[in-house]
Amino acid sequence: MADTHETPLFVYDEAYFTERIRDFFAVWKRHFSGGEVYLSYKTNYMPRLCRIAHEIGLGADVVSGYELEHAIKLKATDRAVFNGPLKRVTELRRAAIAGVGINVDLKEELVALQHLRDAGDIPEPRLGIRVNPGRAVYASKDPSFITAHQARQGSGKFGWPLDDDLAEHVADTIKQAGFALRMVHTHLNSQITRPELMLDALRPVLAFVRKLVDRGTPIDEVNIGGGFGVSGMVRTKRGWWAELKHVMNEPIPHETAEEFDLESFCSALQSELAAFRLESLRVSCEPGRFLFSPSCALLTRVVGIKHLRSKTWLIVDAGLHIMPTASFGEKRRLRFLSPDKGEMHAGDDAMECALGGPLCYEGDVLMHEIRAPRDIAAGDLVLISDAGAYTVSRSTNFNQPRAAVAMRDTRDGRLIWRREAYDDIFRYAE
Ligand SMILES: Cc1ncc(COP(=O)(O)O)c(C=O)c1O
Repeated sequence: MADTHETPLFVYDEAYFTERIRDFFAVWKRHFSGGEVYLSYKTNYMPRLCRIAHEIGLGADVVSGYELEHAIKLKATDRAVFNGPLKRVTELRRAAIAGVGINVDLKEELVALQHLRDAGDIPEPRLGIRVNPGRAVYASKDPSFITAHQARQGSGKFGWPLDDDLAEHVADTIKQAGFALRMVHTHLNSQITRPELMLDALRPVLAFVRKLVDRGTPIDEVNIGGGFGVSGMVRTKRGWWAELKHVMNEPIPHETAEEFDLESFCSALQSELAAFRLESLRVSCEPGRFLFSPSCALLTRVVGIKHLRSKTWLIVDAGLHIMPTASFGEKRRLRFLSPDKGEMHAGDDAMECALGGPLCYEGDVLMHEIRAPRDIAAGDLVLISDAGAYTVSRSTNFNQPRAAVAMRDTRDGRLIWRREAYDDIFRYAE
């Protein structure tokens, strides 16, 4: 496939992706039969993959005008929600007319919707409010990381906080504007691996819903967002404490891979709903990473090896322009493949090195500490796991064109997204 389509190349396993979606959907529907599973388009909007998800029964979670148009084109608007901090008036109009639910995140959206309604431009929109419980959702043995994480969770730009009167005030404003508030929405973060922390964070959301329902607000859906973590990728959760220990040459607690246990989470969430007497609500979610990430690998070719006195660099042709989230200290599983020798293993004599990309800036590092086979050479391939989320949809052409995407359903693979050509890069010039 690398020879046929060149590298870097994203490779999707369609059968695995389809099965993963089917499994997720089955578990969710078994616990929350009336709820929806909205596919997070921003995680990956490739039409072929979105179509597979919609055929299985998933709806769409859109966060921009072009994603909204994508959902309209894919006929996914009967089960769709519009999220995000920017919803232009024209987009709000399109969404309301198409029957897409709108989760209000700025009061200005409400004003725009009022104008549209008063002008007779839109039917009664299906409205929700995005709230922020401000709770930590990650665990770490580094207390300084948790303190910083907790502070960030409480002060993010998304949603209305639940720890003061703001969310309630916005709910009242929606009512005073003459709209019915139907949905409560939250999204806690991404790559959450501990169901118990997700539940802790959701409890204030359910308490808020209970309060609204008691006051006669016609809420019929609670949407808990995405965030379900995968096991093929580990994110560094270090703060100043671990950095200090590193400088002092002291051991730092090891971070291990964990996968979100969906089944046990859904059962526990069901019990929470019962505790709040909210069993009749539709319970929905917006997974992205959990479905896309493990279904895809990134195939990249070694272009050179540089041995310095203090460090060795393994330079490959894939960089942060196509895998930007690697800059958050994400560690992925690697496999090393040689055209002549087949799969190579990093054994006891492995080469400790950094995996650097092709971009002309120092920060372009895919992984800072890896173990590669000692005999790896230019021309060999590195297969990077868990490459399906926030890659194609977050790619830029800084220094290098965006990569192609192939489906691994034939020996050579079939392209579903072509590589960006040099001419594409300059096509915006007037
Ligand atoms: C509103 C919303 N929903 C869903 C998602 C998908 O999250 P994940 O890929 O972690 O499941 C995101 C991602 O950040 C989001 O912002």
